[in-house]
Amino acid sequence: MAATWPLTGRAEELSLIGELLHSRNGPLGVVLAGAAGVGKTRLAREALAVAQQCGARTRWAAATASARAWPLGAFAAMLGVVGPDPARLLRQASAALLAGAGRAGVIVGVDDAHLLDELSATLVHQLVLRRAARVVLTLRTGETPPDAVTALWKDGHLTRLELQPLSQEETAALVEARLDGPLDSAAARRLWSVTQGNALYLRQLVDGELEACKPGWLTPFMVRFAGPGWACCMLGGCVVGSPAPWPITAVGGLVTPCGVPC
Ligand SMILES: Nc1ncnc2c1ncn2[C@@H]1O[C@H](COP(=O)(O)OP(=O)(O)OP(=O)(O)O)[C@@H](O)[C@H]1O
Ligand SMILES: [Mg+2]
Repeated sequence: MAATWPLTGRAEELSLIGELLHSRNGPLGVVLAGAAGVGKTRLAREALAVAQQCGARTRWAAATASARAWPLGAFAAMLGVVGPDPARLLRQASAALLAGAGRAGVIVGVDDAHLLDELSATLVHQLVLRRAARVVLTLRTGETPPDAVTALWKDGHLTRLELQPLSQEETAALVEARLDGPLDSAAARRLWSVTQGNALYLRQLVDGELEACKPGWLTPFMVRFAGPGWACCMLGGCVVGSPAPWPITAVGGLVTPCGVPC
């Protein structure tokens, strides 16, 4: 999955997050909640990149099930703080996170906050309650986060945003950007009905297909889900791209059995 997938859609969400990260009063950031693969991490990353361009100091922590076993597991390695005393760890971690903050302050991104260990959750909670940093958290819907994380939006310190899948138009635009060429409208509809706008599914599907694309081949996905007519359209989209992944003459051979002019 090395190829570029430019951010598509999410303008409204980025604008809302930007407002929350700049407002003087009210919530100090956002919880991006949503289904697996809907695009939470990507949006959080983009939001932090924008904030960084505006002068904020940004820090990024990714919570994982493995690191959850360790006190301050999500932050310890990044901040280089270790030790047996939780109170001391919290003080050290907070100081390290806030070090070097300029006028634009510090913005802490925490990916998969439902996997935070208790001490890391406490650290984030305290930073927000002290209004020492602004935060962007991602959270997978259906998972149970630590109480300290839940309290952040339940008590109104952060705004919870339910991230929706990409629309049909956004899905088509994203695939067109990846293919660097137009996507047939029937193919766009089909692709959306299969992926339901889930960014991860879409990306795996299209990248997998493109990697498997060879002159004269119909890949299993195309046959099983899309049918040969759609496959032609999809492949036609590839061919429009630059550089074309195979000689046009080879595609001609593929198009003919499908019976759909590309
Ligand atoms: N709006 C978007 N435009 C372009 N690519 C996107 C967009 N949203 C997500 N992606 C891409 O789709 C893939 C999945 O997105 P992401 O990892 O952000 O999902 P997620 O909701 O965090 O998933 P998980 O629940 O598994 O953590 C990534 O490769 C990401 O770059
Ligand atoms: Mg994620």
